[in-house]
Amino acid sequence: MTTESIRSPWSARRTEVGDRGAGRGGGSVPADSGLHVPVLLAPLLAALAPVSGFWIDGTFGAGGHARALVAAGASRVLGIDRDPLAHELAAEWIDAFPAISLVRGRFSEMDRLADAPADGVLLDLGVSSMQLDRAGRGFSFLRDGPLDMRMSQEGPSAADIVNAATEVELADILYHYGEERAARRIARAIVAERAKEPIVTTARLAAIVARQLPRPRPGETHPATRSFQALRIVANDELAELARGLAAAERVLKPGGLLAVISFHSLEDRIVKQFLAGASGRASGGYRHAPATPAEEARFEPLTRRPVTADAAEVACNPRARSARLRIARRSAAPARPFVPDSGDTGAFRTRLARGN
Ligand SMILES: C[S@@+](CC[C@H](N)C(=O)[O-])C[C@H]1O[C@@H](n2cnc3c(N)ncnc32)[C@H](O)[C@@H]1O
Repeated sequence: MTTESIRSPWSARRTEVGDRGAGRGGGSVPADSGLHVPVLLAPLLAALAPVSGFWIDGTFGAGGHARALVAAGASRVLGIDRDPLAHELAAEWIDAFPAISLVRGRFSEMDRLADAPADGVLLDLGVSSMQLDRAGRGFSFLRDGPLDMRMSQEGPSAADIVNAATEVELADILYHYGEERAARRIARAIVAERAKEPIVTTARLAAIVARQLPRPRPGETHPATRSFQALRIVANDELAELARGLAAAERVLKPGGLLAVISFHSLEDRIVKQFLAGASGRASGGYRHAPATPAEEARFEPLTRRPVTADAAEVACNPRARSARLRIARRSAAPARPFVPDSGDTGAFRTRLARGN
């Protein structure tokens, strides 16, 4: 889970993190660029070695992973990010890296955005330190700002959701996407508070949530962590986007191409795990008296039986790495399957809010 205990080391003490891609495929990133520290970088590169060919980084962020892929041997990397901030920041350094290009869009569109089949796809899910650190983006319950949370800055914001959803919808959101056990109590409090005045700031929402929960003990996460995660997931339609993104990766990868996904909470990891189980023919067989279904040709071969996690040294330097889980799989030559959306899609709810009905 991306928690707010996360304070990126570079924001307090700006370091040389940006120059990881230097030496191959381009120049360097200004040392004071104050960018996100890529997680699980060493185990990722070790597991992918030897890196070569055309890679898609579907969650470009500050480009740390993209530069590292080039430094490790990728001949070019197409970065995709839906947040204009990632593009604004990259404009300061990307010209020095001719092997890296960046487009604005969603990773679920990667097969449309790419000009060729890919040798590898990387997804490093969740929010970046740049998004969390800017109070004006509304992702942070530690920094007061507008209750926004939209990566693409389009569609309904977290404030729209909080002020327009019914009490039952709010409870469902907090329960399903935040795994918040006090979901109903918090939803009731939100509805009572917004009747006085719409809830439009992160600090007010965090205080409302915190009043419904026991005071955290030292070392425990902030009480608003789960509620903020839930709203962020819905505001960005993150889980459906992940499911669509995995299907898009299946379509764009060459036979033998690698898919690497770093997730930060159990909802994301479950989607990746189930996708790979289904695509590798390892999904559970279902009801034993059901008619046998023909075995499908595996579309992926998982290369990580258990997810790769950060070691203590990385967590000590970058607390964000604590909950990171990396899974890697190799694409086979089997044809891609058509994508079938499931009921976890928050699209209809978001459309209703956007229309205001
Ligand atoms: C955790 S950061 C990635 C950091 C990056 N790996 C690095 O080394 O700097 C995730 C980034 O992915 C972007 N993002 C999240 N979901 C996305 C999606 N569905 N499509 C495109 N970009 C997305 C976010 O805006 C954010 O910039």
